Amino acid sequence: MDKIKFTIDQHEVYAKPGQTILEAALDAGIYIPHICSHDNLHPSGSCRLCAVEIEGREGVIASCTTKAEEGMKVTIHGEKADKVRKLSLELMFTPHPEECVGCPKYLKCQLQALSQYVGISGSGVRHRANNVAADNRNKLMLHEMYRCVLCGRCVRVCEEVRGVGALVFKKVNGQLRVVINGDSMENSDCRFCGACVEVCPTGSIRDQIGVFNTDLPRQESLIPCQVGCPAHINVP
Ligand code: FES
Repeated sequence: MDKIKFTIDQHEVYAKPGQTILEAALDAGIYIPHICSHDNLHPSGSCRLCAVEIEGREGVIASCTTKAEEGMKVTIHGEKADKVRKLSLELMFTPHPEECVGCPKYLKCQLQALSQYVGISGSGVRHRANNVAADNRNKLMLHEMYRCVLCGRCVRVCEEVRGVGALVFKKVNGQLRVVINGDSMENSDCRFCGACVEVCPTGSIRDQIGVFNTDLPRQESLIPCQVGCPAHINVP
């Protein structure tokens, strides 16, 4: 079978064999919220924002790790899927700064766009501040990891794509964090390729002097704007 036919919110969609529901949806111009997923990385299924419901199956599934199947009937905005998405986003906002205004990634932040789309502002969420100091010792990259939502894209791109592992997950004072694998970027084996800057969806890892590519990749530029941009007419 060279094409798999299934539906998403009653829209007919064709997937290539092996494609996930999320990949097929994005290729068809249908937006499913997501943040840990990235075009160039293996899916980790960790954020749960891409939750969808499938007719005939209990509960919700992560569309970024589930392959499209012939005849599948997928619903993005079912009651359970929307509940999981809201809850997951609220959890992400718990350690995140309350104010977006003032963040250098303002209006270019995927978390901010998602929060508008899903309808969670973060203001009603019980905050538990992420007490991590900004690290600007390196001249190319700035780390403000108190903005990190643990999507793991930086860790995966460094390990999977670059084969380096300069950033790792680590528990610090009982809290999971992304940290430099060493006492500084220079001592972490970092090659300063900027891949972590490119994939970071928030303002956590940023370009200090404008040398890295920070254009939004295809799948993130599909996030529907709030004013009905004609480029997003396929978004259900
Ligand atoms: Fe699927 Fe994060 S995008 S779990």
